[in-house]
Amino acid sequence: MMIETGSLGLTEEELQDVLGAAARAPSLHNTQPWLFRLVPDGIELHADLGRRLPVADPSGRELRLACGAALFNLRLALIGHGVRPLVTLLPDPARPDLVAVVRRGGSRPPTPEQRRLLEAVPRRRTNRRPFTDALVPTPARHALRRAALDEGAWLDLVTDPVQRVELGALARRAHERQMADPEFVAELERWTGYGEERTDGVPAAAGGPLPGPNATWVLRDFSGGTARAADGVEAEPLIAVLSAHSDGPREEVRAGHAMQRVLLTATAHGLAVSFLSQLVECPDVREALRRLIGGARPPQVVLRIGQGWPVPGTPRRPLTELLLPPADGPGAGELPGDAPLHADDGPGPGSTDHHT
Ligand SMILES: Cc1cc2nc3c(=O)[nH]c(=O)nc-3n(C[C@H](O)[C@H](O)[C@H](O)COP(=O)(O)O)c2cc1C
Repeated sequence: MMIETGSLGLTEEELQDVLGAAARAPSLHNTQPWLFRLVPDGIELHADLGRRLPVADPSGRELRLACGAALFNLRLALIGHGVRPLVTLLPDPARPDLVAVVRRGGSRPPTPEQRRLLEAVPRRRTNRRPFTDALVPTPARHALRRAALDEGAWLDLVTDPVQRVELGALARRAHERQMADPEFVAELERWTGYGEERTDGVPAAAGGPLPGPNATWVLRDFSGGTARAADGVEAEPLIAVLSAHSDGPREEVRAGHAMQRVLLTATAHGLAVSFLSQLVECPDVREALRRLIGGARPPQVVLRIGQGWPVPGTPRRPLTELLLPPADGPGAGELPGDAPLHADDGPGPGSTDHHT
């Protein structure tokens, strides 16, 4: 694939590596709701709004978390190539699909910590299988909390037995409500339980075993009903709730950075992680969860963390499908597919916030 190099000063191969790292981010049902445009002085990251899941994610909150995670990987990969990234988040209020513009802010080698996180990008996976009973060691717990804090978010570790029972009951209530909704089930079935033939969605092999009747934390069936029931699950997974200052697009993209930093930190510590999103997808359950963790901040992501065995990766769409045409070239304003996009593509005045 030929892609233009820009003033980021990267070779074509380096740009492919950077975009490939971004595209390895996690996303709800592996929808991969991101697109990229190479502009003369940088890279734009766009949300692919046609890939939002209207039933599970009506507001696009989880889509923005995924885009935030992709942006975090993109920043990290640029740093890996010695580029100090300068990020303008959501530069144009009239263009909510334009999540960020990343430009070169000078040169800088990666720190040892950034190298460790970067090395974890291709190894990170969502692991829905049973974990061992080994507890997450205290230094790793500290590192996970630190990872969230470093990106302006909080990670509450739910260790109190009474709270855990309450949280387990909330997870089951939300799960049962979702599974009683034919539209939710149809959406889940459209995106999960496939063979090898797709480049998106969750293949059956990555789905894990069928949740047992008394399961507390692993409840969704991602295998399309083809998996065997779990033989036994870990006694006490670490349950962690990531929360941000507030809701809203900017905070959600930032929460996506924090989510990805926590996930990569877990990978770097040899930990396995899966998601319990029913707890944040049902509004009343999310509100109950907010109160459970202290009431101040809206929860964004709930994670089950432990020690697991390796699991297969999920597919990714080829980069050719992720690249938007140049803003002023032929096909400008169109998605690689058909869906129309606004033609005016220059980042507007908007507020900027620069990250490195
Ligand atoms: C915001 C968000 C919510 C998610 N929710 C769930 C979930 O509730 N259950 C689950 O098993 N996986 C969940 N996932 C994980 C995705 O299914 C997974 O990232 C995707 O299939 C890609 O696989 P990978 O993470 O192994 O690369 C979620 C991911 C994101 C980013």
